[in-house]
Formats: sequence, structure tokens, C-alpha cells
Amino acid sequence: MGKFYITTPIYYVNGKPHIGHAYTNIAADVLSRYHRMIGDDVKFLTGTDEHGKKIAEAAAKNGLAPQQFVDELSAQFQTAWDSLDISHDQWIRTTDAQHEEIAKEFLNKLHDGGHLYKDEYEGLYCVGCEAYKTESELVDGLCPDHKVAPIKLKEENWFFKLSAFNDKIKSLIESGEFVVEPESRRNEILAMLERGMNDIPISRKDVEWAIPLPFDEEQTCYVWIEALMNYVSAINVFGDDGEFEKWWPANVQIMAKDILKFHAIIWPAMLMAVDLPLPKKVFAHGFFTIDGQKISKTIGNVIDPIDWSTKYTSDAVKYFLLREIPFGGDGDVSETRMNERYGSDLANGVGNLFSRVLALSSKQVFHTAYGEDASEFEKLVNEIWSNYDSQMDALAFHDCLANIWKLVSHCDGYIEQNKPWELAKNDESRYFIVLTHLLESLRHIGWMIYPFMPQTGESILQQLGVFDTEKEEELKNIRKWGKMNGDITLQKAQPLFPRIED
Ligand code: MSP
Repeated sequence: MGKFYITTPIYYVNGKPHIGHAYTNIAADVLSRYHRMIGDDVKFLTGTDEHGKKIAEAAAKNGLAPQQFVDELSAQFQTAWDSLDISHDQWIRTTDAQHEEIAKEFLNKLHDGGHLYKDEYEGLYCVGCEAYKTESELVDGLCPDHKVAPIKLKEENWFFKLSAFNDKIKSLIESGEFVVEPESRRNEILAMLERGMNDIPISRKDVEWAIPLPFDEEQTCYVWIEALMNYVSAINVFGDDGEFEKWWPANVQIMAKDILKFHAIIWPAMLMAVDLPLPKKVFAHGFFTIDGQKISKTIGNVIDPIDWSTKYTSDAVKYFLLREIPFGGDGDVSETRMNERYGSDLANGVGNLFSRVLALSSKQVFHTAYGEDASEFEKLVNEIWSNYDSQMDALAFHDCLANIWKLVSHCDGYIEQNKPWELAKNDESRYFIVLTHLLESLRHIGWMIYPFMPQTGESILQQLGVFDTEKEEELKNIRKWGKMNGDITLQKAQPLFPRIED
């Protein structure tokens, strides 16, 4: 088995986490849990981006010193991820001493390697984006995302020779050595590289809440440059404890399309400049709106991930977001859709199937027995598992869930066809066969949904009495059809998805 290093963006702590941030962490959580399930050694890194003007301004607005402010906000992000049962292995903050130290070392290497030069920057900067803007990116003179005019900067800065890496990155993407997905986003990045990247400023003159440049005390590091370094400072890139060699290159780095350019162009160039390998894959998912509108504090449509997981359970929130929007595309979410999916797919879908099957087979020692029509199930289950792996590799979570639900529907149809409640009265041996097929299918469903909905998956498997014995087993054994055998005693089912109280 291999290692799997996965990262999410580190989120700005200028406000509370919202469901948009949660989306990326949920996806990373599912992939991490899947890789743990197949026996990989996993490191899932997430955390908070805490420097820069935007954060300093937010702290001032709240009447707090920046450090105190980021301490509080970073803790709020952790609480939100706890409420969603996110299984990250490491939490990085850019105010961590280790990060600051390594960032300085990285900057020194860029400087010593001749990749930086000092020049005058004259142009526009949007504090909301913490990014340099061109006139052509503005709409009516305003940043289209923040609806504010960018500030005009004219200052001496250190520049990074990004242009020198332009063609190399382009050919690595074209050859597939450096994977940028999905395809549409890859094409956008290639088009940008085709037009050619300019060198970029990597320092600022009057931003105090930032890491000072080790070779120029009048300047601090531009927040994005420093933030990108988190992916390797977390694993002690220049240290000798073996952490870096163990984990790098990252297997996949996930983010939304808004910040793909930083991850697919600037980040690889920075790595190449200090002779480090590139991540294997960067994947940009889409952006979603809520009730058709951009997530915005002014509109007031911000969904707090803690509220939703309290109301619907973290499992249901994870299921909903990944089932509702094809990963990679844009989409819309709404509470109405959340309720619909909770009802149709969860409570009346897998939840109902589970309680029906357990109600039909509990209260007695159950003799498992497989019949001739088991082959239909076996074929379907094998097909689903084989799609499952390729869908996980492609981060096609919605397809993977739809794939699992084929088995749920198949079981529902099988119950209607075979009417086990009648068989119980007049054909006991057939009754045991029919229920064995259903219970064995539920065992597969339990494992299949486990990375997506760990609590539900565990609950199904516990109630079937197999979780504790199977969880240490290799997945290839667990995936075999017909593993449930002998006499089993089942409990009365606990509802998996109880009715939501408003
Ligand atoms: N701090 C930078 C990232 C530095 S990474 C080295 C940043 N932070 S952010 O707080 O603005 O987070 C942006 C990310 O949040 C997006 O890339 C995406 O992962 C997630 N999302 C925020 N809103 C979202 C939606 N409405 N829809 C989907 N993802 C969303 O950029």
C-alpha cells in the first residue's frame, strides 16, 4: 500500500467558515477516508491563512490585535470541521513558528538562487482577493467578486521570475506529468500559459501583519506566496526528519476554480525554483451559489456548516453537497434541495431499506443461505466496486454515490418482487435466501458509503454485527460477495436518518 498526501486551501480567517469552505474539506475528507480504507498511509492537511492586509483590517474592525483575532477565528474553523466530522491529520496555521521559519528559508532560497529581483510595481491590488489585478479583470472599475475599487499601488517590490518557468510548466501539463483537472480548467490554465505569464511581485512595502523578508527588512512577504508554502512547511521541507521525503509530492491538492491559477502556475514555479518536485495533481472544483445567489454576508444567505450539521447530521450534509453538485462543475444549493434529498435518498432511501430488512430478519437467530439468484447481486456488487475505484480516482463523487444507490434501488425492487413477509409464512428456506441477499447487500452498502458517511456506514455495519471484525481486514476481502455466513443474530434497527425537527 502506498502513501496519500492530500491538501485543501488554507482559509482566510477574516470571517466565520461557511458552507463553501466546508465543501472542499468534505471532498478531501471523503478521499482521505477512502484511501485509509484501501490501506494507504494518509496525511490530510488543512488549516488557516492568517496574514495579510485583509485579516489585519478585519481584526481592527473587531477591535482586536491581529494575533488574538486569528486565534479566535482559527479555532472557529476547527470547531466547524469537528462538527462536520472532518478527519484531517494536521492543522496548519501560517502564524505557526515552524511555518514562519520555513517560509523565510524558502524565500532565502529563491533569493539566493537568483529568482528574485527588485523593481517598481505600479498597478492595482484588491485587498478582498489579496491579489494584483489588471484593468481587464475589472467590471466598471470594480473587482467583480468584491464590488470594490482596487487600490492603486506604486512601490518598490521584490519580483519573482515567474516568466522563466512558463514554458516548462506548460509542457509538464501537456505531457501529463503534472496533472491539472478537470479538463476545462486545464485548458484555461494552458491558455494562460500560451499567452505567457509576467513576473509577479512577491513582497509588499506597508503590510505589517506578514512575514518579513529575511533579506530586506523593509518588505514583507506577499500573503499568497507565503500561504502556498504551507503545503511543504507542514511537512518540514528543509528538515532532516524524513517527513518531507515520506509525503511529498502531494498526491492531490484540491481547491476551487477561484484560486487554481495560484496552484497550477505560481506554486509549481516556486517549487521548480527551489528544485522540488511538483504535486502529482491539482484539482479545481466549481463554485456554488445558494438559492441562485453568490454566498454573501450582505445578501445574508451564508449557511453555517455547524447549523446544518446539527440539524441534519454531518453525514447528511456531506452526502447532500457531494451528491447535489458534480464535483468540478458549478452548482446551486438550497435548504429545499437539502430537505428533498434527505427525505428521498437518505430517510426513505437507504434508511428505509435498512430498517425494513432488519425488521424482517431480526428477533431471531438468522440462518444465512445463498440462492441461485445471488449471482445477479454478485454481478452488480462487483460492477459497483470496480466503478467505485475509478470514480474515486477521478474525484467523481456524485457518480460514485449514484453508483452505490443502484444497489439500494436493486434491493428495493427485490423486496417488492419477493415479498419476504409472505415467504416468512409459507416458504421458510426461500425467506432465508432472500434476506441473506439483502443483508449481504447492506453489508456492501455499509462499506461503500463509509468514506462518505462514516457514522452511517459504521452504524449499518455495527448493527449487522460485522464492523469490528471487518474493519482491520483488507478491502479486497470485504468486497467479496457472500462473506456474510453462518448464523447471525441481529438487533432491531436504530433509524439511520430520523425525521428532521424544524
Ligand atoms: N487563503 C486563500 C487560499 C490559500 S491556499 C494556499 C483563500 N482562502 S479563502 O478563504 O478565500 O478560501 C477559498 C476556497 O474556499 C475556495 O478555493 C474553495 O475551496 C472554498 N470556497 C469558498 N466559497 C466557495 C463556494 N461558494 N463554492 C465552492 N467553494 C468555495 O483563497
